[in-house]
Amino acid sequence: MSRRTSDALHHFRPSTRLTHLGRDTAAQHGFVNPPIYRGSTVLFDSMDDLLNDRAEFTYGLLGNPSTAALQDAWSDLAGAAGTILAPSGLMAITTALLAVLQAGDHLLVTDSVYGPTRSFCDKMLKRFGVETTYYDPRVGTGINELIRPNTRAVFLESPGSLTFEIQDVPAITEIAHAHGAAVILDNTWATPLLFDAHGHGVDIVVEAGTKYLSGASDLLFGLASATEKYWPALRSTHLALGSTVGPEDVFLCLRGLRTMLLRLRESERQALDMAHWLAQRPEVAQVLHPALEQHPDHTLWQRDYTGSSGLFSIILQPAPQHAVAAMLDGLQLFGMGYSWGGFESLVTPIDPGAIRTATSWQANGPALRFYIGLEDTQDLKDDLDAGFARLRTAQTAP
Ligand SMILES: Cc1ncc(COP(=O)(O)O)c(C=O)c1O
Repeated sequence: MSRRTSDALHHFRPSTRLTHLGRDTAAQHGFVNPPIYRGSTVLFDSMDDLLNDRAEFTYGLLGNPSTAALQDAWSDLAGAAGTILAPSGLMAITTALLAVLQAGDHLLVTDSVYGPTRSFCDKMLKRFGVETTYYDPRVGTGINELIRPNTRAVFLESPGSLTFEIQDVPAITEIAHAHGAAVILDNTWATPLLFDAHGHGVDIVVEAGTKYLSGASDLLFGLASATEKYWPALRSTHLALGSTVGPEDVFLCLRGLRTMLLRLRESERQALDMAHWLAQRPEVAQVLHPALEQHPDHTLWQRDYTGSSGLFSIILQPAPQHAVAAMLDGLQLFGMGYSWGGFESLVTPIDPGAIRTATSWQANGPALRFYIGLEDTQDLKDDLDAGFARLRTAQTAP
């Protein structure tokens, strides 16, 4: 099956498309996976070809067969006109913002946004004359009141980083479009497999490929896909920034793509099992997982999403920091680290209130973010069970 015949794959279901997209076995001498193309220089056959850019690939920075294979596959999966590849999720986010903004513009960003996205808006975009206003992730149609004549873009992340609010993407998108503003969404948690962002009206969709596309915590990667209308701006901004990706990382992402749905589904199943178990624990005040019925945005999640992934948070009953440290420091299976989406389960203490400006974080107890990987959930529960025992002991110690 050739990658050039990806149209022919369109009627297949996602898992079938994931196995066939971005491969051209005829051009690969029959080998199943595309080779890794390394290189900067591309030779032209004639001066005429060179002067007229008459070649599929002209310069390493502008792409090669490896990058084209992943771009085509991702565009197909996301239902986009085109996709850019970036060396990190953050770079995909910043490229998307730079593609639609200019000096004098106003930008609306969800208060639940990934911290470094907020830093880019507050530090870099501000320096270049773009003003950012943060909004309550549960604003819904109330976004209308925040739009100004110079609002050029609305940046959503759903669910929110750390706090997992689900946004009303179709409502926000409809209002933003009525005012001529572009809508950008960080869809890393769901991937195109669990939320069809372009299908819900989003103009540019960002994915940190570092997480589920890699699936192995062994690389950093970003993708941003755009509709027909925004693809020229996204592509030209990407080229102007000269931000390119290494072909080995592209190869690993293409490899990750084949099993992404499988890993996501398993991560979903395991995370739901753990979330339900945590919800029953006396040490836990609240579980912030949108697929749980008690989550305030559960109905929105059910309406728009086809599944959930492995990342969620909990709020503990009030406990001093040294008791939480006793719990976390002694865990045998859960790693303590930030980047999620791999095979290993993780837990990190979080303080969502520290960076919020439009909303306040109402929680009496400390909060933890969990990522559930592929270990046996009984082993994970045993590990946490022992952790909760340490928490209780440290709390009652004089
Ligand atoms: C929701 C979300 N978006 C974007 C990023 C940024 O990805 P990267 O680490 O590849 O820059 C992260 C990283 O944790 C994330 O959680």
